[in-house]
Order: sequence, then structure tokens, then C-alpha cells
Amino acid sequence: MAAGEQLLKVQGVETYYGNIRALAGIDVEVKKGEIVSLIGANGAGKSTLMMTICGSPQARTGSIIFDGQDITRLPTHEIARLRIAQSPEGRRIFPRMTVLENLQMGAGLDNLKYFNEDVEKIFTMFPRLKERQSQRGGTLSGGEQQMLSIGRALMARPKLLLLDEPSLGLAPLIVKGIFEAIKVLNEKEGLTVFLVEQNAFAALKLSHRAYVLVNGKVTMSGSGKELLANPEVRAAYLEGGRH
Ligand SMILES: Nc1ncnc2c1ncn2[C@@H]1O[C@H](COP(=O)(O)OP(=O)(O)O)[C@@H](O)[C@H]1O
Ligand SMILES: [Mg+2]
Repeated sequence: MAAGEQLLKVQGVETYYGNIRALAGIDVEVKKGEIVSLIGANGAGKSTLMMTICGSPQARTGSIIFDGQDITRLPTHEIARLRIAQSPEGRRIFPRMTVLENLQMGAGLDNLKYFNEDVEKIFTMFPRLKERQSQRGGTLSGGEQQMLSIGRALMARPKLLLLDEPSLGLAPLIVKGIFEAIKVLNEKEGLTVFLVEQNAFAALKLSHRAYVLVNGKVTMSGSGKELLANPEVRAAYLEGGRH
């Protein structure tokens, strides 16, 4: 789909853990209606960027502009209120709450009037969640927990959906289903998605644009297609992977 105006602009961002610099000056941009992915090896700083966008940890230098507003120094709850929703690495659903309760936790107070409508939408997208709506989150399979984590993020009616490694630990067929759901959300509803993935092949295939992250720095960027065809990307992230 045609990309619109700028939604997220990360500029010169450095993030530290104590004295360790995990992000070494990151420039990344996401436009409204885009799916943009950030690929890179384990430890490259992908999750750190995602968490920095959400305000914890905060960027030490640089700026993060979301929807025209400087959010670099905002506390996480205020950033969430601007409708940036995250499905974090490892899903982090509430294991003792039911599927439906987990979805309730994702809905902002402002969105309660849409609750039934939004739950139905998520159940249509992921019928397995409907079947298991009264089951506790902790009893779901990995793929179902991922669906729930995405569903919970969607309950916030996000302007920007951040997904950290949705494919982690899942069988290829399940990954395919989840990525298909993301694609449909983007195409049908214009949802803007920023995706972090070690599974470069699936991410690049899905994305309009992508960035390659190495040791806290962006080393390459381009359209998903360009990067899929790029010999360096292929050698580093795709050889021996799923083609
Ligand atoms: N809480 C933390 N404290 C100290 N170092 C961390 C912490 N989280 C991540 N790191 C370090 O920051 C770097 C980037 O990590 P991370 O963002 O998790 O990478 P990725 O998500 O790409 O695997 C790594 O070297 C990692 O060891
Ligand atoms: Mg990570």
C-alpha cells in the first residue's frame, strides 16, 4: 500500500546499559501505513531500540519523534497513551489470566466502548483464541501465546504496533499464519507496524522497507525486496535459513 506521512522518526539515538552502549546512533523512520522491519543477529540491539521507543530504557542522546511529538523524555505510560503498542520479546502474556482477561488488560480505558467489537475482530483474525477464550494464558501453545500478545497490543487501537520477534520459537507454519495476519491488518486497516526479527527471510518478505542492525548501528537499509536480493544480507542472514 502507498506509504503516507511520517509517523516515527528515530534520530541519532544512543542507549546505554550502565557504561555499555547498546545503540550507537540510530536513524530509523516509519511512515504511516508501512510495515518496516529491523533485522539483525542476537545481541545487535533490536529489542533495545524497541524498548527505547517505548521509553524504558530512555535514549541518552538523540531524539524520537512520534506523530509530530517529541517523546524522547516521556515516561512509558504517557508514550503508551499516544497509542504505541508493543508485543514484547517473549510475549509476556499474563499466564494466570484467561485469554479474554489478557485482552481486557490491553484495552485502554478510553477504548472500553469498543471492547466487544475489538475482541470480535481479534477472534476473527485468530479463531484459536476464540476457542480458548476462557483458558488461562499459561496453558496456551507458543503460537497461541504469540497471537494473544499481538491481540492484546491491538486492543489498545495502536497507531503504531511494535512487534519484537513474533516468530521466536515457533514452527514455520505458525509463523506463516501470524505474518499473514499482520499483512492483512496492514492492508485492510492501514495499521503501521515496526517489526524486529532474527528471522530475516520472513520479515523481509512481509516488509515494505527494512533496516539491518549490527552492533547497535544501522549498516544497511532498503526495500524488503532489495535486501532479500542483497548478497551481503543473504550471506549474513539468509544462507541456510528458510528460503
Ligand atoms: N538489561 C540489560 N543490561 C545490560 N546489557 C543489556 C541489557 N539488555 C541488553 N543488553 C545488551 O545490549 C545489547 C543489545 O541487546 P538486545 O537489544 O537485547 O539485542 P537483540 O534484541 O538484537 O538480541 C547486547 O549486547 C545485550 O547483551
Ligand atoms: Mg531481542
